[in-house]
Amino acid sequence: SPVPPVDRLGRPLRDLRISVMDRCNFRCPYCMPEATYHEAFRFLGPEERLDFDEIERVARVAAELGVTKIRLTGGEPLLRPGLPDLVSRLRVLPGIEDIALTTNGVLLPRFAPALLQAGLRRVTVSLDSLDPVVFAHMSGGRSDLSTVMEGINAAGAAGFEGGVKINTVVQRGVNDAGVPDILARFRNTGITVRLIEYMDVGNRNGWDRTDVVPSDELRARIAALWPLEPLPPRYRGEVARRYRYVDGAGEIGFVSSVSAPFCGACSRARLSSDGKLYTCLFATTGTDLRGLLRQNVCNVKIDECLRTTLSRIWYHRTDRYSEERTHRPALWADRKKTFPQEKIEMHYIGG
Ligand code: GTP
Ligand code: 5AD
Ligand code: SF4
Ligand code: SF4
Repeated sequence: SPVPPVDRLGRPLRDLRISVMDRCNFRCPYCMPEATYHEAFRFLGPEERLDFDEIERVARVAAELGVTKIRLTGGEPLLRPGLPDLVSRLRVLPGIEDIALTTNGVLLPRFAPALLQAGLRRVTVSLDSLDPVVFAHMSGGRSDLSTVMEGINAAGAAGFEGGVKINTVVQRGVNDAGVPDILARFRNTGITVRLIEYMDVGNRNGWDRTDVVPSDELRARIAALWPLEPLPPRYRGEVARRYRYVDGAGEIGFVSSVSAPFCGACSRARLSSDGKLYTCLFATTGTDLRGLLRQNVCNVKIDECLRTTLSRIWYHRTDRYSEERTHRPALWADRKKTFPQEKIEMHYIGG
């Protein structure tokens, strides 16, 4: 079998994040602001998206090169017809140990049992506020809080082996005051809340550093309510830093990509729904795999070609966007001038 590549900074390829759908039934202003993603926005057509055979093919080759974890993302991945079928196909690939899903939760009551049956191990639901007004603002007003809560309950009831997590993107002055309500709601439930620093992903959300609540500050606020103690990382390069409530009510996580970047052990590759491979969440260009997958040659040849391409891309990888931004703020202050190229959008690459 092929030799698993490491990149220029010595990082192996371990995680593949697959965006299966660029559309979403929400319009979170920090991801898909309504002003851009209105009725005339042109999303991908079904023929532009990789089909399940193509996704499975990329995942199989990635697993041969060292990938053990797959995360399905969007847009909203549950808008992709037949998603449980894809899960069952990825689940049995040699080398794949973990399959997770990141969703806004709306369609979970309908799909949780089938996803479990198909072999999904873990579910992460995005939830930014328990205040219906703030929730409506942060999700773009297309759904409501009670629907998402039903989704979270459905995921909890299904009994996923790896459990259920909540992702909360924290924006100063928008939802940070409501963080304790979210934590209180999920203490003692076995559901882990992860508090995410608002990031400058994409080009359209008007990100400003002052909107970020650094994790240290947020953690101090929380510890004043419920004392916390740190937990060791579960794997090298874990995205979230974990803490437990001293009173035994469970665990929470902080994703601090702005105040404490974690590029040093970043083992993640991202596949967009139209088959481009990106080696960083903040990349400006990706490598088209779809053309390669749709060549008119035999499957053995396609696999060989994919293997060489993935190895080569990973071997040359140098990405460490978040660290560079932290260490060279002057460069990034005027990033638009220094790097005129647009970054990829979150809904297209799945976070
Ligand atoms: P686990 O496998 O449960 O540890 O999940 P995860 O933390 O890898 O995935 P999730 O999709 O829940 O991501 C949580 C937050 O971290 C989201 O806001 C992601 O955009 C962000 N995130 C995930 N991976 C990266 C990364 O490689 N770089 C940066 N900067 N942010 C990331
Ligand atoms: N900053 C931080 N997290 C974000 N997400 C989407 N946009 C941003 C952003 N600008 C989160 C979503 C989802 C996860 C995959 O990424 O809320 O939980
Ligand atoms: Fe949809 Fe998630 Fe983006 Fe919100 S953050 S618009 S739920 S993809
Ligand atoms: Fe990985 Fe890029 Fe995120 Fe750094 S900024 S952790 S290199 S995806």
